[in-house]
Amino acid sequence: MNQLVSWLRLTELDRINLPDMAERIAQAEADGSVVEPRSYPGYPTWRLPRSHQRWWPSFDATLAKRRCGRTLETKLPDARTLGQLLHTAHGITGDFFRGPTPSAGGLQALELFVVNWQRGWLPEGVYHYDRCGHLLSQIVSVADAERWRELVPSLHQVEGGALLWLLIGDTPRVATKYGERGDRFLLLEAGHLMQNLCLVSTSLGLSTVPLGGCLEREVAQELKLPRGDRVLYAGVCGRSVE
Ligand SMILES: Cc1cc2nc3c(=O)[nH]c(=O)nc-3n(C[C@H](O)[C@H](O)[C@H](O)COP(=O)(O)O)c2cc1C
Repeated sequence: MNQLVSWLRLTELDRINLPDMAERIAQAEADGSVVEPRSYPGYPTWRLPRSHQRWWPSFDATLAKRRCGRTLETKLPDARTLGQLLHTAHGITGDFFRGPTPSAGGLQALELFVVNWQRGWLPEGVYHYDRCGHLLSQIVSVADAERWRELVPSLHQVEGGALLWLLIGDTPRVATKYGERGDRFLLLEAGHLMQNLCLVSTSLGLSTVPLGGCLEREVAQELKLPRGDRVLYAGVCGRSVE
């Protein structure tokens, strides 16, 4: 049995471990702590414009149109477009920090990072999307495109691209309630968030291509992530020129 299958098997729910899991969940709920999304106080920040809900293009049309562009423009989306994209895909839209991404136990354990490798209204760098403030915090002030192609080898399969999404899972945030099974939930949630990014990109005339090939540990170092964080998913975004 390979490692991936054994991890999936080990974290399966069955009739024997179900009572323990139920007790763990009940205990976590009784403790009742609300976990806030992450923020990076003290880092340089770029506030993003607030946007209104759009009713056009329709959801059905967006679903039908979604494709992974193979050649993407390198032009950075303007601040309004990026603000709209981030808020619509991962902003706060309800109480307890809830948003458009379904979240196991409502723990909101995904953090979204954005790499911008060119100069424009947003300087080159690596940014964290602060959901509470609807702003970008600059974690690293350099972002060399060639270096990022090394860290995310799948970028070689797409020509161009303006921004790189990095979806990060906060393992301690889910482990208290779900133990090791929480890691499954983080991956599932990352799929939801990536789909949001794909669909909202499409609705704004952009394309997001999910990328499976990523040197997770090196990316974690580059982002200065705490030890409990897991790099789950990457994606590149830009206007498709096909
Ligand atoms: C988990 C996952 C990983 C992917 N990894 C890559 C990748 O590494 N490189 C790439 O070019 N496309 C990648 N894709 C995009 C697929 O190649 C693309 O969705 C597929 O070709 C179908 O095209 P469409 O999305 O335009 O319908 C990935 C998609 C998923 C869901």
